Amino acid sequence: MEVGSCRISVVFVFLTICFCSDFGTAIDTITSSQSIRDLETIISRANKFKLGFFSPGNSSNRYVGIWYNKLSTSAVIWVANRNKPLNDSSGIITITEDGNLVVLNGQREVIWSSNVSNSVNNASAQLLDSGNLVLRDNTKGVSIWESFEEPTDSFLSGMRISTNIRTGEKVKLTSWKSPSDPSIGSFSAGLDALNIPEIFIWNNSRPFWRSGPWNGRVFLGVPNMNSVYLDGFNLVVDDQEGTAYLTFSFVNMSLFFVLKSKGVVEERKWIEEKEEWMVPFWNPNTECDVYGMCGAFGSCDPLKKPICSCLRGFEPKNVEEWNGGNWSDGCVRRRELQCERIKKTVEAGKEDGFLKLKMMKVPGFSDWSSAPESEGQCREQCLNNCSCIAYAYDVGIGCMLWSGNLIDIQKLPSAGTDLYIRLAHSEFSTFNAI
Ligand SMILES: *[C@@H]1O[C@H](CO)[C@@H](O)[C@H](O)[C@H]1NC(C)=O
Ligand SMILES: *[C@@H]1O[C@H](CO)[C@@H](O)[C@H](O)[C@H]1NC(C)=O
Ligand SMILES: *[C@@H]1O[C@H](CO)[C@@H](O)[C@H](O)[C@H]1NC(C)=O
Ligand SMILES: *[C@@H]1O[C@H](CO)[C@@H](O)[C@H](O)[C@H]1NC(C)=O
Ligand SMILES: *[C@@H]1O[C@H](CO)[C@@H](O)[C@H](O)[C@H]1NC(C)=O
Ligand SMILES: *[C@@H]1O[C@H](CO)[C@@H](O)[C@H](O)[C@H]1NC(C)=O
Ligand SMILES: *[C@@H]1O[C@H](CO)[C@@H](O)[C@H](O)[C@H]1NC(C)=O
Ligand SMILES: *[C@@H]1O[C@H](CO)[C@@H](O)[C@H](O)[C@H]1NC(C)=O
Repeated sequence: MEVGSCRISVVFVFLTICFCSDFGTAIDTITSSQSIRDLETIISRANKFKLGFFSPGNSSNRYVGIWYNKLSTSAVIWVANRNKPLNDSSGIITITEDGNLVVLNGQREVIWSSNVSNSVNNASAQLLDSGNLVLRDNTKGVSIWESFEEPTDSFLSGMRISTNIRTGEKVKLTSWKSPSDPSIGSFSAGLDALNIPEIFIWNNSRPFWRSGPWNGRVFLGVPNMNSVYLDGFNLVVDDQEGTAYLTFSFVNMSLFFVLKSKGVVEERKWIEEKEEWMVPFWNPNTECDVYGMCGAFGSCDPLKKPICSCLRGFEPKNVEEWNGGNWSDGCVRRRELQCERIKKTVEAGKEDGFLKLKMMKVPGFSDWSSAPESEGQCREQCLNNCSCIAYAYDVGIGCMLWSGNLIDIQKLPSAGTDLYIRLAHSEFSTFNAI
């Protein structure tokens, strides 16, 4: 055994020397004269990221990707030809005459292209230590394309997850189909610049998870953000440019987020002492995190059994299904609101009240009103508008108001927001209104 392992290390040293002498100092740039073939790679200057060909999981297909250099291909953060794999090792990465970064197959056909339309005479692509691959017009000295602008499934420090406020067009993460197939899967994650911006994970076009509204420092529906992520994230709404985007950066912390093929966003944190990635955090985390688990006017509490209950003042729309654990139809109001009764000019009775629910993930799709400067004023505004059926007040956001259905409400284990639900006065006979 001793001899065997000794031999292996001799071979290893030999290979290492070969590698070094073959390539001299590692290069980080692709040019038209310096192409990359399968098995060749480029490495960012401080050795953090590597770009080359790889085969994911059990697949024998070849893809061009970028990964953390320390971790071989187990931490791929970007894939070029994800929907068009090569079936052999004849691929080549180069710069075309018009200045595009391309992946070619053995027949010199373009499998993938950076697709920059303006022709550039002298371009080169450099892999940076941020993990960004930047294609530059060397004559003008400007960037003409960046891999960070076309994310795969990973969100790194310095990247922008963005949405065009006018068109709704998004730069978002899209999941791999499976760990062996990086082609576009059914999940995506991005920013929705609703009245108040928040992060969504979608399963195709249907919401699968939401972060809750951004209050300038944290997302209200992510309970541990206050302790772990405070001030690491930055959400910018640039009305002039017509975009909203999310970035993050943590001092002295190597971490990134990845949207896995089953729709879960994982945080991966590099633990220097152990030389491995840890997953301290992921979402959806409990069943209650799955969007709309308890239907309209239902509330989810992962610590209760069953997890779903109707909000006070509401009852299951379909009792049989509800009791059978199918909560998708949600709940309906038991007693008509006063303001609805006034509309019908029946005897209206006493004024509606609000039920206070503490530590809640507030429902999706709120309206926003800038005028109220306190919870009391927010309440007034809601009470004076018959369409308003709930409100919440957060100092960072101001007054959130809801009409229509209340969907995706959850009782959070910590943090959370006080949510006020409008109910008919008679609902308060057994407990106190505010
Ligand atoms: C590879 O195949 C094996 C056996 O079919 C399976 O157990 C494993 O999960 C697969 N790995 C990936 C990454 O798909
Ligand atoms: C590999 O792909 C090329 C075209 O890209 C095709 O001509 C060839 O038949 C494929 N080979 C195999 C073994 O599938
Ligand atoms: C490049 O543009 C062509 C034509 O517009 C399109 O079919 C192709 O999908 C684009 N490729 C990439 C990698 O965006
Ligand atoms: C392209 O630009 C690089 C960097 O500015 C320069 O070193 C090189 O000589 C240029 N090549 C040509 C063909 O002009
Ligand atoms: C995602 O949506 C598809 C249908 O579009 C469904 O079959 C699948 O179960 C959903 N996945 C999850 C995790 O909800
Ligand atoms: C970050 O790391 C550098 C060098 O290791 C150290 O000097 C600095 O104090 C650290 N900053 C924080 C906020 O921990
Ligand atoms: C749950 O109820 C909805 C609405 O009635 C129905 O469409 C759906 O098929 C039910 N789901 C299951 C798993 O029974
Ligand atoms: C009442 O609330 C609805 C829904 O939030 C809103 O569209 C409408 O403009 C409000 N009406 C008044 C008078 O504020």
